[in-house]
Amino acid sequence: ARPLVIAPSILSADFSRIGEEVKDVVEAGADWVHLDVMDGHFVPNITFGPPVVKALRRWTDASFDCHLMIAPADPYLAAFADAGCDIITVHAEAGPHLHRSLQTIRNLGKKAGVSLNPATPESVIEYCLDVVDLILVMSVNPGFGGQKFIESQVEKIRRIKAMIGDRPIDIEVDGGVTPDTVGSLVSAGANAFVAGSAVFKGDGKPAYEANIAAIRSS
Ligand code: DX5
Ligand code: ZN
Repeated sequence: ARPLVIAPSILSADFSRIGEEVKDVVEAGADWVHLDVMDGHFVPNITFGPPVVKALRRWTDASFDCHLMIAPADPYLAAFADAGCDIITVHAEAGPHLHRSLQTIRNLGKKAGVSLNPATPESVIEYCLDVVDLILVMSVNPGFGGQKFIESQVEKIRRIKAMIGDRPIDIEVDGGVTPDTVGSLVSAGANAFVAGSAVFKGDGKPAYEANIAAIRSS
């Protein structure tokens, strides 16, 4: 089995002190830091780009798990690689050449991820399994933190798990992940868990530590 990973999404952190928040959440037990990049075009919200990622790189050595909710993504892949992302995930819906996007990420020396919106079937990645390191299943419609988990995505995870066989590919889930939803996701085959509002609630590092521990122990 792939190692279990908790990847807090800084979308729910305090953006006025984002560096400290990243440092705190890693010290609180996060394995990866999940960075939600939104362009106001592919998704109805805008966050940050490569310069912010680069600035955050000074605050921790933890892996940066970069979720690009942008279209097109290809023109920006090199900039996110240079900014210090370790995993770069593009949406299958964001462009016509998914296989090429994934190859480009690998050629930049980074791990290549593909994300699927709730409405997108897993069959779109069947012919990309040779160039993929991570599959990110959206269990909410992307754009905002704090939304309700969409139950139908558990079955999609189960199908993806069967599809990848013994290939070394991480299955990550994003959206509405809480101690209550994580159990069924593990059983379905997911090993990496993004959580925004469930981690960044309460007052700073001690609260983040308890929140991460609660997700891990379920
Ligand atoms: C949604 C983002 C998620 C989001 C998760 O568009 O991709 O990473 O921040 O937030 P929660 O855990 O609050 O659903
Ligand atoms: Zn995300």
